[in-house]
Amino acid sequence: MADKKEFQFYINGKFYPSSEAKISVMDRSFLYGDAVMEGIPVWQGAPFKLDEHIDRLFDGMRILLIEPPATKQEVRKAILDTIKVNTLQQGWLRPQITRGEGQFADKWDSLTSKANFVILLGLYPPNWEQLTGQRAVISPITRVPSKCVPSATKDCNYLNNILASIEKVHAKADAAIMLDIDGNVVEGISYNIFLVKNGVLITPTTRNCLAGITRAAVMDLARQQGIPVVESDSIQVADLYLADEVFATASAKICQPFIEIDGRKIGNGKPGPVTLKLRELLLAEMTKNAKTFKWD
Ligand SMILES: Cc1ncc(COP(=O)(O)O)c(C=O)c1O
Repeated sequence: MADKKEFQFYINGKFYPSSEAKISVMDRSFLYGDAVMEGIPVWQGAPFKLDEHIDRLFDGMRILLIEPPATKQEVRKAILDTIKVNTLQQGWLRPQITRGEGQFADKWDSLTSKANFVILLGLYPPNWEQLTGQRAVISPITRVPSKCVPSATKDCNYLNNILASIEKVHAKADAAIMLDIDGNVVEGISYNIFLVKNGVLITPTTRNCLAGITRAAVMDLARQQGIPVVESDSIQVADLYLADEVFATASAKICQPFIEIDGRKIGNGKPGPVTLKLRELLLAEMTKNAKTFKWD
């Protein structure tokens, strides 16, 4: 039974209490992970970088040849309605568009199903935005290269990331950094990675990692501050160990400093000034967005 506090999830144009929100077990997202999704942060009642998240969702559909079930405007409206219906103040929204209902193995190539469009949501934990210096490890699990699954799609195949996450738990770490098949730093389990060396901000290119929306926001803020930004395909593990600062970015993480990697202190073992400055600027941008967000 629906209770008052239950969130209302959106499915194909209608809202359902979360306990009653269901789609078919024949949906290809369930059968094969054949779907795209987004994780959109809601800060002080407003979604942050909403249009960028919708663009990435549609880019993913283009790449995977999923026929969009709605226009960008309609998706935007459904997302805004979901925030309003749930009076969400601080949390996340997860629009997910699946290829729709499918069949078994010999019909994997079906491109004709009618897409399902779902929006789930949840709350961030209390004090989610607070600064915590995290301990990271280098994951023994290699990041799937774009040559196999294009990293530009935020798809629903997260097994590679889940394996890295399990190894992180075994290592009793807060976070894990993944490498490509040649040993270059790519990204975290569900976050992008930056390092600061001699005043320069350095991050992997998006060749093999998701083009994080927070990543782009932080790079813009850095450039506005006059901080040089370099994207590189050849960041080595030792570059991280020897960096002045290392931090991760993601919608669900904002900008979190890593104070230790594989037992090596990063810099002086405390969150560094560039990380703290960029974090402060990002939070200020999120707050400004909440005050000025256009709901129409
Ligand atoms: C694999 C991966 N990399 C990076 C990110 C960070 O992306 P964003 O800043 O758009 O949240 C995410 C977030 O979901 C992710 O899943």
